[in-house]
Amino acid sequence: MSGHNVWTHKGTFLLAAVGSAVGLGNLWRFPYLTGENGGGAFILVYALTIFAVGIPILIAETMLGRTSRQSPIMGMRHLTKTHKTSRAWESIGWLGAASAFLILSFYSVIAGWALHYTWLMLTGSLVGADAQTISAGFDALLASPGLMTLYHTLFIAFSALIVAMGIHKGIESGLRIMMPALFVILIVVLIYGIINGDVRAAARFLFTFNIADLSLEGWLHAMGQSFFTLSLGMGAIMAYGAYMSSEASLTRTAIAVAFVDTAVAMVAGLAIFSLVFGAGLETGQGPGLMFVTLPLAFADMPFGALVGGVFFILVLGAAVSSSISLIEPVAAFLVERFDMTRPQAVTIMVIAAWAMGLLTVVSFNVWAEGTIFHALFGRSAFEFIELLTNIFMPLGGLLIALFAGWALTQSEVMKELGTNITWFKTWRILVRFVGPAAVSFVFLRTIPQVEGYVIPTLGAVLIVGAFALGQRLRKSAA
Ligand code: PHE
Repeated sequence: MSGHNVWTHKGTFLLAAVGSAVGLGNLWRFPYLTGENGGGAFILVYALTIFAVGIPILIAETMLGRTSRQSPIMGMRHLTKTHKTSRAWESIGWLGAASAFLILSFYSVIAGWALHYTWLMLTGSLVGADAQTISAGFDALLASPGLMTLYHTLFIAFSALIVAMGIHKGIESGLRIMMPALFVILIVVLIYGIINGDVRAAARFLFTFNIADLSLEGWLHAMGQSFFTLSLGMGAIMAYGAYMSSEASLTRTAIAVAFVDTAVAMVAGLAIFSLVFGAGLETGQGPGLMFVTLPLAFADMPFGALVGGVFFILVLGAAVSSSISLIEPVAAFLVERFDMTRPQAVTIMVIAAWAMGLLTVVSFNVWAEGTIFHALFGRSAFEFIELLTNIFMPLGGLLIALFAGWALTQSEVMKELGTNITWFKTWRILVRFVGPAAVSFVFLRTIPQVEGYVIPTLGAVLIVGAFALGQRLRKSAA
């Protein structure tokens, strides 16, 4: 492939990967999961997984992108050919694209809520409001499909615009403005939290490790969260890796991404829980932590409306920089495979994800119960989509680890890693055994707890998929 796109600078991949990694996962999901699962112990498991499983798989996924220099689907096709391995490994690309698509669909809806709250904060609508008013306001938002669709549309259209402008003019330039601004805002919110909140209580909550506080559920959530927050197994990192400079170090970059991502989650946690404890509120509020508890804390604090507004701008920016990495793998595939222009490809991907997102929108109101999803899977469409991605993501990560660990040759990996034999061997043990074992553990514990027809459905899909693949293999062999 001559003249394949490469990021402008050696370090741009780091910027892009951090942009992808830092998102709603850090600012919204991490704090509420930590709050629900007993604080420090949860964080300990989360950090261990990031370190022992996340970083090695992050290296593997970037490596697959960089060696193939194509979008995840085409890239995996290329790699299975050049390595004469089973075409079944192509499923890594498809699984990644499917997860990216599904995640984008609901990610955009939730980011839309942040848009609503930015507006409420900056207009001062919540100043002095009490708990009832604020939680009624959140319920009213969820009850309105129209409003949610509006915000969802605005958010996804804006992300699409950036990706459509190309990796240099759109993604790179966008990130170069957004990311530094986000770090400044995060620090401002932290300082505000320290001054107006109770940072000691927050630190005690986050950093007291009491393993007895952690349920099995908590373990699973911690591991799932470490995949989600690093954007692993979704094709996003592979797609960005395809543009990575050959000179940049895979290991150092991966460690830097994991470090910044974890640091952002910790700082966000400190800031948010300082405010929550300072206002004497509950930590275990679940997904409403950011949209109900936090606005309530801001409501009674000096300059709360302004800082609250700035905080939700932070959330929005972080969400945009992640959602563009969800659009990229599918859009790049459409460009490569069907020779579309980038704007065409982005439009198709985003319209489809937008329509899919409507399922999430109605899951909170008109389809909140009694739908076919409830009958078959015991949950709403949104919860079902989320469950699917929670299965696909680690599954993708598992396959990536296995492929990179077993199918790539030593010389190839050594060349990509550009390191000594000791680190190579350590990395290979991690992706060959430790990562797959950790992911399998999560699966084996989660799967039996899933109700309804989820398992049979997934089983049927897998069987049909395997069959279709077998047919293709036979044809291509003939
Ligand atoms: N890592 C992002 C977050 O923490 C979510 C994401 C997942 C983005 C997968 C891209 C791909 O919010």
